[in-house]
Amino acid sequence: MSWRGIIEQYRKYLPVSAGTPVVTLNEGNTPLIPSKALSAVLGAQVFLKYEGLNPTGSFKDRGMTLAVSKAKESRARVVICASTGNTSASAAAYAARAGIRCVVLIPKGAIALGKLSQALIHNAQVLALDGNFDEALQMVREIAGRHPVTLVNSLNPYRLEGQKTGAFEVCDQLGVRAPDYHAIPVGNAGNITAYWMGYKEYREKNIVNSRPRMLGFQAEGAAPLVRKKIVLKPKTIASAIRIGNPASWKKAEEARDESEGLIEAVTDRQILAAYELLAKEEGVFVEPASAASVAGILKLHAAGYFKKARRQKKKFRVVCVLTGHGLKDPDRAILSVKKPKTIPAKLSALLEAIEL
Ligand code: F0G
Repeated sequence: MSWRGIIEQYRKYLPVSAGTPVVTLNEGNTPLIPSKALSAVLGAQVFLKYEGLNPTGSFKDRGMTLAVSKAKESRARVVICASTGNTSASAAAYAARAGIRCVVLIPKGAIALGKLSQALIHNAQVLALDGNFDEALQMVREIAGRHPVTLVNSLNPYRLEGQKTGAFEVCDQLGVRAPDYHAIPVGNAGNITAYWMGYKEYREKNIVNSRPRMLGFQAEGAAPLVRKKIVLKPKTIASAIRIGNPASWKKAEEARDESEGLIEAVTDRQILAAYELLAKEEGVFVEPASAASVAGILKLHAAGYFKKARRQKKKFRVVCVLTGHGLKDPDRAILSVKKPKTIPAKLSALLEAIEL
């Protein structure tokens, strides 16, 4: 039978009933791609969970299908979110499908072009805030607390419930077993929380017999969990995770500690190196924030972190979540490479240029 989205696939693990109207774009079922280059470097089996292949190009769709379905069930008329881009794109698309009004608040000039175009074309009311993401989130939280609008940021518990299906899928794709390590970028810290919920649930229900260590990575200039304090002016080229005061701060620390994992910082330079490696050596195009998971495992490898695992188990398994598609941020791709050379319309010029 064809794939019908994460709610139908994992219905028995989700807070839905027969009466819940399912608002879906058939999200989920994204590929788990073996990475030759990274497996060789780490001496492990490294897999890329390519969440950029969701309907709106990011992992947010897993949470949004449930959050918007539940909003529709409770007859909500308006959904609202603050966003560094992907949440707004996803909320706008699912709200359009549900016939619900959508309002999004974004930090002015700080979200990638693809994401902005998505929110706009799906007819959300887009407001640019003269402030950063943390301020935007604070504002929409206050509004949602006082007015009849449904918040669809990851503070909405249905978002995390939907996103935990990412962990179910990883286990199912690995032959119903958990990986040894799960690497993931951390911004507002909802996704690391959701994945850990999913892995724990599959273990508690005895579907798998182990749980991974959670390896979270923040950008150096936006690393409140690593610094253990709020970052007032977060800075990084990875605009999706330019967040200084994550909403799920405590839960991310719990995921780190319960799983005996870690949350570390990677520099913009390391992020861009991983971004280019994925594109040039694996054929996988992601947005910069997504490359933080790969930058992170390369950093840990260089520091000898996986040595013990390699000794204990010849081929340990590492999953890196690639959270968003590269086409979200075309400006960054163009900045990272040489512009195409213009040639005259002559065969000789073409032959000369390609040096054949
Ligand atoms: N990767 C991408 C591509 C993202 O868009 C985000 C978050 C993250 C990673 C981090 O996930 O927040 O659950 O820790 N984007 C949010 C947004 C904040 O508004 O689109 P997180």
